[in-house]
Parts: sequence; structure tokens; C-alpha cells
Amino acid sequence: MIEKLMELFRTRQSCRNFSEKPVEKEKLVRCAEAARLAPSACNSQPWEFVAVCGGPARDRAAQCAQALGANLFAEKCPAFVAVAEKPAGLYMYRTGKQEKNQQYAQFDLGLAVMQFCLAATAQGLATCIMGAVDKQKLKQQLGISGDEEVRVLIAVGYPASPEIRAKQRKNLDEVFHFVE
Ligand SMILES: Cc1cc2nc3c(=O)[nH]c(=O)nc-3n(C[C@H](O)[C@H](O)[C@H](O)COP(=O)(O)O)c2cc1C
Repeated sequence: MIEKLMELFRTRQSCRNFSEKPVEKEKLVRCAEAARLAPSACNSQPWEFVAVCGGPARDRAAQCAQALGANLFAEKCPAFVAVAEKPAGLYMYRTGKQEKNQQYAQFDLGLAVMQFCLAATAQGLATCIMGAVDKQKLKQQLGISGDEEVRVLIAVGYPASPEIRAKQRKNLDEVFHFVE
């Protein structure tokens, strides 16, 4: 199992060159099921996933992805998933008391987004998490509720090339050590 997981972590990579092959909606649903299972602080699940798969909404999302001058590859991408943070209180398990001084929502969204992307990879899809998008415009274009904040837009599609790049990462000993 660990070897399979490591393989998934190695092959999940940001794709910036998508083929025009459409994405099956069922595959996006599987990704959302995976994301929904992610842990979150006090199980608050402060997320909403809004998918566009072809059609005019895809075109509007592609424009928002490129609006800041980045992510020009989004033009060809067949599907997108906007990830929005929903207001959600943190209520401690044992006491039921509300925890007001902790902010975990973006952390929680990150965990869910990772599960989404790994589930996509496991189904032969590729993803790119995009933060450099016009989030206000995207929110408006996709009809996302006023009390939510779009945090990232995930591009989803089939990669135009099967190449898996070597990961550029800090060395393990720079980021991990034991204390005796
Ligand atoms: C929160 C977040 C925002 C990102 N925003 C963008 C983006 O706007 N455009 C882009 O091309 N990549 C974006 N990326 C992808 C990163 O550049 C990428 O994950 C990193 O370079 C590591 O490469 P890898 O995903 O291929 O392993 C983003 C990643 C994260 C986690």
C-alpha cells in the first residue's frame, strides 16, 4: 500500500498542457467523494466544490483563470472545479464549546484539495491547483454564495503528454528530523 501511495504522490503533478479530450462527469464525482472524506478541524468541513465540465460555464471559468495574466494553459482545459471556503464554526468535541481563536479553514481546504487531486491522478486525469485567478469574478460567474470565499480553482483534464517530471523539492534532511 505505501509503495502505491508513494507512486501516486510522485505521479500527481501540476499539468499545464491539457488534451482536448472531455472529462467524464462520473470521474469528477469520484474526486469530490474523495475530497469529502478529508479530515477537518472539529469535522467542520468548511468547503464547497463547484464543477464546470464543458459548456459556457467552462468558458467563463477559463477566462477567470487567465484574468490575472497567469494560467494561459487554462484556455484548453476541459473542466474546472472551484473550491470555496464556507463559514463554519469550530465546536470542540468534548465540551461542545465554540473555539473562536483558531483558523483552520484554509488548512482544511488544502487537505480536501489534495485528496481531490490524488483521486484525479488515480483515474488517469491530471490537475493544476490555481491560486492566481480572479476569485471575485469567478465567484460571480459560477453563482457561488456571497458568504463563501473562492480559495483556488482546480484545472482538470487529460494530460497532453504522459511525461512525469522529477519533483523539485527540498531535501528530506532540510525539512524533517528526529529529536532524541
Ligand atoms: C495554493 C496553490 C496555488 C497554486 N497556484 C498556481 C497557479 O495559479 N498557477 C499554476 O500554474 N500553478 C499553481 N500552483 C501549482 C504549484 O506551482 C505546484 O504545485 C508546485 O510548483 C509543485 O509542482 P507539482 O504540483 O508539479 O508537484 C499552485 C499550487 C498551490 C498548492
